[in-house]
Amino acid sequence: MMATRQTKTAGPAPEKGVFIRTYGCQMNVYDSERMADLLKPIGYRSVDAPEDADLVILNTCHIREKAAEKVYSELGRLKRMKSQRENDGEGMTIAVAGCVAQAEGAEISARAPVVDLVVGPQAYHRLPELLARQARERGEILDTDFAVEEKFDRLARRSADGPTAFVTIQEGCDKFCTFCVVPYTRGAEVSRPVSAIAGEARALAAQGVREITLLGQNVNAWAGDAPAGDPQGGRWGLGELCRFLAKIDGIDRIRFTTSHPRDMDDGLIAALGEEEKLMPYLHLPVQAGSDKILKAMNRGHTAEHYVKLIDRIRAARPDIAISGDFIVGFPGETTEDFNETLAVVEAVGYASAFSFKYSRRPGTPGAVMPKQVAENEKEARLAELQALLERQRSDFNAAQIGKVLPVLFEKAGRHEGQLIGRSPYLQSVHATAPKSMLGKIAPAKIRDVTPNALAGALISKDEDAA
Ligand code: SAH
Ligand code: SF4
Ligand code: F3S
Repeated sequence: MMATRQTKTAGPAPEKGVFIRTYGCQMNVYDSERMADLLKPIGYRSVDAPEDADLVILNTCHIREKAAEKVYSELGRLKRMKSQRENDGEGMTIAVAGCVAQAEGAEISARAPVVDLVVGPQAYHRLPELLARQARERGEILDTDFAVEEKFDRLARRSADGPTAFVTIQEGCDKFCTFCVVPYTRGAEVSRPVSAIAGEARALAAQGVREITLLGQNVNAWAGDAPAGDPQGGRWGLGELCRFLAKIDGIDRIRFTTSHPRDMDDGLIAALGEEEKLMPYLHLPVQAGSDKILKAMNRGHTAEHYVKLIDRIRAARPDIAISGDFIVGFPGETTEDFNETLAVVEAVGYASAFSFKYSRRPGTPGAVMPKQVAENEKEARLAELQALLERQRSDFNAAQIGKVLPVLFEKAGRHEGQLIGRSPYLQSVHATAPKSMLGKIAPAKIRDVTPNALAGALISKDEDAA
């Protein structure tokens, strides 16, 4: 009998393992989850260790030098793993995604030939095709049945993992702060339309998601047309979008990050004051407290504008917790300038914050500015700033003792019978609670604080909530 050539047609592909390592911001966390979703229909299931993976994706961050360098040391480790797997007769495809991929492109494969695929943050929805092409070149066949669609359309088909979820609503940045690579790695500001965002939020709610965090590099620059049939119509900002999403049944908490002080408009401040589902927590980075440095950073506002803005936000929502980002040692920053950063921190009072030593990023204006600050000076300033921020954080946490906070329980705790959840202020809260409370919001009385969490006790409905 004549042999017939068999080609695989539609049908389940053999199962393969994918391991995704995520660096950087929440946007990358979101993108990694979406990559996992995109790969599922072509037979990839997530595995816990790169050793077990047929495909390893490093979803990278370019924001500071250290972040970018981590990728290359990881690629060194993967190279050894890949040869080991090849010796065992198994292959390993290595892909670099994210902001290093965008910033360095082909340079990555030149520096690390072990890399098979480089895919930028705007192209990863094409991963299935890229993998298929790569597999074909190796003589394998892999079936994919994706039609050509917009990235966001493809990403709408997503699965939930627990009661909280990120939803990207805006990407890119037009602000061009002189220290920052994001406008180059993520491109110009683009907003997703209301219908796509609401569709994704509804799909998540149907899968038990109670809290959504709207993501964007400059999330409060989001803008979109009111959906057809809206009585007022017109252009919407983030405030209107949040009010609209708050109407979705099942979605009980809404957060958004990261906001820019320049885009904090009255509509959003009013929504923070009036919409209870909007959580009383705002990440509003200022970076520095000296007007001279703010100008050199191209932030587009003064320190006074920022402090007054916080006052207005607090007037609308008195219990709001503020979080921020800071950079110390930007070129030209003197001790006096740095002291003005400390003064802003004292004036605002932060519930939490991230602070960094300025890192020179190739291609940004800051990298070639005169008066770069010495590394030891940056270190000393960072230590002083972090000590102050840490005091504020622990004071804020200690102030919760005795209060009753609604907690959304997300996962099992370290101890038997314990669950871990989040307060409205994004603090971790652990409490003794049955597993049936997972995915539910319940009041807990805060009894104690540990360095990284609050210890709470569930209170019954008839117990005094005061
Ligand atoms: N879009 C956000 C920030 C994104 S980057 C915003 O505008 O606030 C996250 C943080 O990394 C920044 O807020 C900043 O504090 C820090 N960062 C960015 N570039 C940096 C650099 N070159 N060196 C040190 N920190 C940096
Ligand atoms: Fe970077 Fe500034 Fe844009 Fe934030 S606003 S992403 S810090 S350029
Ligand atoms: Fe990093 Fe890119 Fe996010 S540079 S901080 S992963 S947008």
